[in-house]
Amino acid sequence: PALPTAPLAPVLPPTSVGVFAGIQPSGELHIGNYLGAVRRWVELQRQHECFFCIVDYHAITQEYDASALPQRTFDMAVSLLAAGIDPDRAVLFVQSHVPEHTELAWAFTSVTPVGELERMTQFKEKAQRQESVLAGLLNYPVLQAADVLLYKADTVPVGEDQVQHIELTREIARKWNARYGEGFFPEPQALVGDAKRIMGLDGQAKMSKSIGNTIGILEEPEAIWQRLRPAMTDPARVTRNDPGTPEICNIYHLHRHFSPPATIEEVAQKCRTAGWGCLDCKRVLADNVARVFEPIRQRAAELKAHPERVREILAAGAERAQVVARETMHGVRE
Ligand code: AMP
Ligand code: TRP
Repeated sequence: PALPTAPLAPVLPPTSVGVFAGIQPSGELHIGNYLGAVRRWVELQRQHECFFCIVDYHAITQEYDASALPQRTFDMAVSLLAAGIDPDRAVLFVQSHVPEHTELAWAFTSVTPVGELERMTQFKEKAQRQESVLAGLLNYPVLQAADVLLYKADTVPVGEDQVQHIELTREIARKWNARYGEGFFPEPQALVGDAKRIMGLDGQAKMSKSIGNTIGILEEPEAIWQRLRPAMTDPARVTRNDPGTPEICNIYHLHRHFSPPATIEEVAQKCRTAGWGCLDCKRVLADNVARVFEPIRQRAAELKAHPERVREILAAGAERAQVVARETMHGVRE
């Protein structure tokens, strides 16, 4: 197929509304960020002007492996494209390729109270785990606000954990507008779907790469099964014959995203009556997860065989993003 090396759709004029979302360059997508965010992005791009950004400048605010970052950025691009982000419909790019993001973030640091940053839940959680907290970690939501407002986006499709950051983005927009001119930035809204907080396989914490409780969307069927096998279920089911409560079991909740309605019913009933053991239930889930992601796995394999195509898509995306970013920064400097 022809490569999208040049702008393919009209670029969003800086005054119109649109969608912006960011994602960390954590390598492969997992079913948490896929269900919580990316699946939604794929729908939104059909009807709205969309900017999707791999946020590498956010990724350096905590301890990370610098030598692995380029690969993890590339792998995230592969996952997003394989999952259905279409460079003919949406602008997909890497944050550091558009330096206006960090420039706007700097301007925003001067309308953002430190107190607001210190009370962010994500900051408190991450800071707590560190001996020495970097200034970048505190300022992380300022950069996030710059990401969104650089494109004057009004809709930000995210999981629940990001809602507070979008609230702060609104506040930054308000403070900016109050000081420099009403209506310059819109106040964006978070768009949170029905899979706003997918739990990890430990059943304890949100599914997250940094915790290692994930299933990657590109994993082979056997690997998916190996991950699901030891996953946490209803603790009341100590032996095969103990009945369980599906609503408190994470495996049941995952079935609701991957299995057909009849299977979901069957899972609930067989759990309550101990008709199935937890392993039986997981086996069915593993098969359904593998089936749902089969076409995505295939597309990813094709993309990985043509890394230059992926790089061209990202380069073209950055070029298109920068047209809007420059225009906004021009207004900001004025
Ligand atoms: P991240 O991969 O942490 O950059 O997150 C990318 C997007 O996916 C953000 O909108 C998150 O809110 C969302 N997300 C990440 N993990 C989960 C999860 N376990 N459940 C639901 N949404 C998630
Ligand atoms: N902080 C977001 C996360 O960890 C990623 C992100 C960066 C983002 N910039 C954004 C999300 C702008 C939405 C809009 O998931």
